[in-house]
Amino acid sequence: MMNDQELFESAKTYVKEILGDETTGHDYFHAMRVYNMAMYLSIGKEVDELVVGLAALLHDLDDEKINKDKHHTENFFVKNPISELQKSQIFDIIRNMSFHKHLAGKRVASLEGKIVQDADRLDALGAIGIARVFAYSGKTNRPIFMDDIDDDSAIAHFYRKLFLLPDLMNLEESKIIANDRLDFMKEYLNKFYEEWNR
Ligand code: ADP
Ligand code: NI
Repeated sequence: MMNDQELFESAKTYVKEILGDETTGHDYFHAMRVYNMAMYLSIGKEVDELVVGLAALLHDLDDEKINKDKHHTENFFVKNPISELQKSQIFDIIRNMSFHKHLAGKRVASLEGKIVQDADRLDALGAIGIARVFAYSGKTNRPIFMDDIDDDSAIAHFYRKLFLLPDLMNLEESKIIANDRLDFMKEYLNKFYEEWNR
């Protein structure tokens, strides 16, 4: 069996192959940011780093928003076997971590899951979060803004989802980063409205 580091490298290569040219903000670099943030949040905690790292890297491979083939994650483990327990922990995290699942009442129970979920949510905030909303909105034919903060525009998405994320963070240290990123987004919106109303 491969060691943790070899498995991480293998997962990075695999994710780059599959999500390398993804254009809705769920690309290889998103996976890498989530991975790096999750590893950072794991420092000093008693967690299985292999579970954290692989769940972070693989979490969007089979997301229904991105592709229809639902077997990329399974296929990874065919060539990169790990223990059945760790594999089921990883699938459990990936299955339950999304905002969509949160609204449906699902929660991630493990500390590993809470870390990866926070890392993924943090990437929807701040300067990168702003870029990702507009990328996703354009790709799904949504307008930038229609002078209404409660419709389906990119700007409305700030209020409908993104601004709720800081309070949903599992860890205190995530919440601090989230609030810092939130402040920047509010500053951005102030400028946006200033130009909009000029
Ligand atoms: P998750 O599924 O992990 O909860 P999403 O895939 O919904 O997160 O979000 C990924 C990115 O796409 C985020 O940066 C988010 O802002 C953006 N996004 C998701 N849904 C919308 C939407 N309805 N309008 C604009 N952006 C969206
Ligand atoms: Ni993601």
